[in-house]
Parts: sequence; structure tokens; C-alpha cells
Amino acid sequence: MPDRIFTEQKLAELYDHFNPWGGRSGDDEFYMEHILSSDSVLDVGCGTGLLLRKAREFGHSGRLVGLDPADAMLEIGRNSRSDIEWTYGVLESARFDQEFDLVMMSGHAFQVFISDGEVRGVLAAVRRALTAQGKFVFETRNPSARRWERWTPEHAIEIAHPAGGVARMEHQVDLPIDGDLVSFTTRFTAPTFDGVMESRSTLRFLDESGLNVFLAEAGFEIEAQYGFWDRSPVTETSPEIITVARPASA
Ligand SMILES: C[S@@+](CC[C@H](N)C(=O)[O-])C[C@H]1O[C@@H](n2cnc3c(N)ncnc32)[C@H](O)[C@@H]1O
Repeated sequence: MPDRIFTEQKLAELYDHFNPWGGRSGDDEFYMEHILSSDSVLDVGCGTGLLLRKAREFGHSGRLVGLDPADAMLEIGRNSRSDIEWTYGVLESARFDQEFDLVMMSGHAFQVFISDGEVRGVLAAVRRALTAQGKFVFETRNPSARRWERWTPEHAIEIAHPAGGVARMEHQVDLPIDGDLVSFTTRFTAPTFDGVMESRSTLRFLDESGLNVFLAEAGFEIEAQYGFWDRSPVTETSPEIITVARPASA
């Protein structure tokens, strides 16, 4: 079950305003390069589908599929473009079979898979969905950079609300951290809300070696791993673990 932040229409409508195209330090451009060089693309946890919609605007003429279990997010994509396949649901129960040159998960969507069983389940489903020459591209936040330490009300983000006034989003993390799981509350205020809207989330922060064991077990080999969108290496302090993986050759 996705968090309320994605299933509540009023919150989903704000998503692209908090995360506009090109506003997140290079990830959009990184993914777009991969999308535009792939004939068939599955975006798992596509949310509002901004990347896929932009890919059409940039001239992608192949198959684009956006999958998400949050209807409020998917609806935004569906209402914007009809030349993209908008699929409601989770990948684990979708029946894709060697159909995609690229399976991707942006916006740290991979971190919603919390248990070992969920991680194994989603990787197996990605593997099934990919063609033999396909690639799986996704990122997860590097735990050693301890990003959650900045998820405090003092680091709230404020944006101009589309209906006027200011919308505000702040996080508060549950302490102490539970192993590699970080649970937190996100609070939103906006001129169109009656009061504060809250959403609870838990994300897993797998480290590079743990992640790579899961990938190998699922039959992937790693083509490249980066610590940031400029393709710099993963280090103790790099914010991301960005992975390009391919089905291992037999
Ligand atoms: C942080 S958003 C990322 C959205 C988008 N990919 C982006 O780059 O902005 C995470 C998305 O993952 C979706 N999600 C949650 N559980 C999922 C699952 N089991 N399978 C696929 N997507 C899931 C959520 O509904 C949400 O839209």
C-alpha cells in the first residue's frame, strides 16, 4: 500500500510542483538519456509520469509504460497524455515478460521495498520484464551519507502554490533509526488545505555491498555504479548509489 503522500489527490497534485522537471540535481537528465536510447521503457513507481511525458515531448516514439500503485499519482499522468500506457498496480503482480529494453525506478522508488523478500520479489520481476540485452537503471540513497539527518522541520521546503500562497513540506524522522530502515512523518500545509496533512513513510537504505548481493542473486551484473548524477564514483560521502545493471550472461 503506497503512502498517503501518493494516494491522496490533494498531495499528489502538489508532487510535480515540489519536484519540477530538472529541479533535482541532474537525475532527470540522467534518466532521460537512458529512456531516449531505449525503444521500450517500463518506469516502475512512475508516480505522475513526468519523465515519460517529457520523453514523448522530446520525441520518443517507442513503447512507454508507467506503473504505479498510487491511483492519484497515475491519474495525473493519464489525464496529461494518452500515448503512454498507464498501468495501475505493483510490478510483483504484473505479468511483463521480456518486453522492455529499459526498466527504471527514479525518485528513490526502490527504497520503498523494505524487507528482503520485497527486494527479491521486485528484482525478480524486473529481471522477467527485461529483454536479454535490456538494462535496469535505478538509484538508492547511500546510507553512509546519512541524508535523513537533514529531514527535519528546519529544512522544510516551501514553494509557490499553483492556486496562490505558499505550500510547505517538512519531514520528521523517528529516532533512533532502526537498522537500515528510516521511518518518518511528512507534513504538508497549503492554502487549499483545511489543516496540516500528514503522511507516514519507511524507506530502506541498503548499502552498496548489500545491494550488490541482492542484484547478483537475482541474476544481474553491474555495468556501472555512480555516487552522483555527474557519474562520479560511489564514496563514503556520495549521496547516491546509482546503478546500471544488465541480465547476467549465461
Ligand atoms: C518518491 S515516488 C517517485 C515517483 C517518480 N518515479 C519520480 O521520479 O518522481 C515513489 C513512487 O513509488 C510508488 N510505489 C510504492 N510502492 C510501489 C510498488 N510496490 N511498486 C511500484 N511502485 C511503488 C509510489 O506510489 C510512488 O509513486
